[in-house]
Amino acid sequence: MRIAMIGTGYVGLVSGACFSEFGVDVVCVDKDEGKIARLLDGVMPIFEPGLDKLVETIVRAGRLRFSTNLKESVAGADAVFIAVGTPSRRGDGHADLSFVYAVAREIADALTGYAVIVTKSTVPVGTGKEVGRIIREARPDAQFDMVSNPEFLREGSAINDFMRPDRVVIGTASDRAKEIMRNLYRPLYLIETPIVFTALETSELTKYAANTFLATKITFINEIADLCEQLGCDVQDVAKGIGLDGRIGRKFLHAGPGYGGSCFPKDTLALVRTAQEAGSPLKIVETVVEVNDARKKQMAKRVIQALGGSAKGKTVAVLGVTFKPNTDDMRDSPSLDIIPALQEAGATVRAFDPEGMTEAKKLLDGVIWCDTTYECMGGADVVVIITEWNEFRALDLDRVKKLLRQPIIVDLRNVYDPQTLAAAGFTYISIGRPSAAA
Ligand code: UGA
Repeated sequence: MRIAMIGTGYVGLVSGACFSEFGVDVVCVDKDEGKIARLLDGVMPIFEPGLDKLVETIVRAGRLRFSTNLKESVAGADAVFIAVGTPSRRGDGHADLSFVYAVAREIADALTGYAVIVTKSTVPVGTGKEVGRIIREARPDAQFDMVSNPEFLREGSAINDFMRPDRVVIGTASDRAKEIMRNLYRPLYLIETPIVFTALETSELTKYAANTFLATKITFINEIADLCEQLGCDVQDVAKGIGLDGRIGRKFLHAGPGYGGSCFPKDTLALVRTAQEAGSPLKIVETVVEVNDARKKQMAKRVIQALGGSAKGKTVAVLGVTFKPNTDDMRDSPSLDIIPALQEAGATVRAFDPEGMTEAKKLLDGVIWCDTTYECMGGADVVVIITEWNEFRALDLDRVKKLLRQPIIVDLRNVYDPQTLAAAGFTYISIGRPSAAA
């Protein structure tokens, strides 16, 4: 089996590497010559645990190649995966499909024999059909079938999510295409991964429904956390108490500063627009988008309150700026709302993130970037944990206390136990749990 993966972003690179680990002959294609040159040198464009090692091994084994030549890479491939970006379109929140359609035209030009054309990027319902139309229009003689095969991997655990998925969703009307897709995913049969075959459009919607449901679950527990604060309850206990019900499930019930990242914010918004246009609005998801946006903005107020109502002249030490740990991705990270709001309120912000600072420096002005966790805390009036990186989970509390001007910690990820922090002499504010004061 030979496949061409168009686009070496998160989805394309991880999927390409993992398919080649399955034994498939893969060529990953990107227009960006610099990116391909770096990949050929073994330099990954993203931080994803285990990806560099995996790529190095399979490149050496000759199963994974990188190229800027789409035409050569697509010719003779059994399957061509479209894994280019589908960002939010400025102004209306719809997914911007211009990259997908441009690639479709190039693929049309490059097809030599039968191939399945697979959309792996998250694309709105109807995109696969339109890609098929574009190819057919450009090349009436081309032999191909369209497939939707959405990706459910999470940044930070992408390789494991690809290799041990809960399920694989494949949308197509063609038996020939089904057979090729089944062959590509054959190694997953060994671990009895359920494969859900659907129509093309149903598969496209399934991806949005999955992300939207997860975003809703997070937003639900975030609102319960706010209520816990008013009623003196503990959201972690509530999450456990409801999550043990198999119908609800324990995952994605961790209250925090609001979801971010490259997927949930863009996909919730895109599905809201699709549903409005289809005349079947998703009121729940509309509210989720609104509540989450407001939540991210509101988080800075907690810090200001912890400082006694004013941040003027105060120094805030921010630990973690990426939207979650084990990634360098800053897209829609809560830190992008929290840090400017603190600066506007008159605070000086010092910050440290193990992997995200290169990206963050481009997006956040006026921040004092530090080299280590402890350097960041030196002389600060309050510590704010925005991202739950492992290295922030076991801070030397005595050392922290000595470094701070005031022993205050605002923990937006509930990393610490309130009683322990109070016993160590801190004023500790977390999410949805009774505050603890020394
Ligand atoms: C998400 C989905 O989880 C993947 O299944 C999907 O494939 C991917 O989007 C995508 O569409 O490409 P990802 O954005 O990498 O993956 O990250 P998540 O682990 O889902 O986290 C998203 C956000 O929700 C983060 O800001 C995280 O901190 C937040 N979150 C997550 C919570 O606040 N609480 C939770 O309990 C879980």
